[in-house]
Amino acid sequence: MKTKIKFLDLELKNPIIAASGTFGFGEEYAEHYDIEKLGGISYKGLTLDPRDGNDGIRVWETPAGMMNSVGLENPGVDAFARKIWPRIQDRNLISVVNLGGSTLETYLEGIRRLEHCDYDILELNISCPNVKAGGMAFGTEAKSAERITRAVRMTTQKRLMVKLSPNVGNIGEIAKACQAGGADAISLINTVQAMAIDTKSREIVFNNTYAGLSGPAIRPIALRMVHQTAKAVNIPIVGMGGISNADEVIQFLMAGASAVQIGTAFFTNPDQIFQIPTELEMWMEKEGVQSLEEIIGIV
Ligand SMILES: Cc1cc2nc3c(=O)[nH]c(=O)nc-3n(C[C@H](O)[C@H](O)[C@H](O)COP(=O)(O)O)c2cc1C
Repeated sequence: MKTKIKFLDLELKNPIIAASGTFGFGEEYAEHYDIEKLGGISYKGLTLDPRDGNDGIRVWETPAGMMNSVGLENPGVDAFARKIWPRIQDRNLISVVNLGGSTLETYLEGIRRLEHCDYDILELNISCPNVKAGGMAFGTEAKSAERITRAVRMTTQKRLMVKLSPNVGNIGEIAKACQAGGADAISLINTVQAMAIDTKSREIVFNNTYAGLSGPAIRPIALRMVHQTAKAVNIPIVGMGGISNADEVIQFLMAGASAVQIGTAFFTNPDQIFQIPTELEMWMEKEGVQSLEEIIGIV
């Protein structure tokens, strides 16, 4: 496969990973698409206990993306390990388990209960803006980001990728702290905190007041933050935020990402997303690029 990349000690057949929360556990898409065309899937964010998610309006369209306040609706780690993982574990793609939590102990206990599942990468979500349980409080300050990363590092042998929030002042500093705490990789960005008002009802749209903005509107911010993170750390980076085509994937690789995740674009045009690996191959042929690794971080 021409588009294959090395990520940590893993080989991805291409750098496209479905972003957490936008692809479920892949089962619905698998009914309509050959999901093994992707390099990997980051599964819907799990928490120790099952969660129903937030009340009220959960998604809201904007001219260049969407806002969500889903609130980490998920079946919980035990149901995932017992019922879901056995159904999906044999896929020929990299499996990323995304985990959120409200306290350090809920993260650590969640990880322990998933330890026997043979998934590839643990993505520690310290960046969900929509709920207290999402752990964003851990991700907005370097000290707490390092502390939780270190505690998780001591709890699991899994490859550890920490997912960062864009709602911070100095992303490089937070990424460095995660590296110091023992992260093997960094992923970014989660959604950008935002707000909407329904002028008809004269009310704030979301029960939680603020929600997370994703999609094309955040892409330039995400690209800048991936670039800043690549300058700050020497562990691999998975970039995301508003990516919807091969050219945008290439931009993130050039900014320093080794792979990308795609989320919101699956909602608007899944057909196109499944074409990206082929488009990347065509681009490589046209540009005389032998391996995508040649272009990682070249700007
Ligand atoms: C509906 C929805 C649910 C999401 N749920 C999660 C989640 O459970 N865990 C997580 O780490 N990120 C979650 N995200 C954030 C995405 O994984 C991604 O970081 C963000 O949407 C930016 O990428 P995009 O613009 O390609 O969607 C969610 C995003 C959306 C739109």
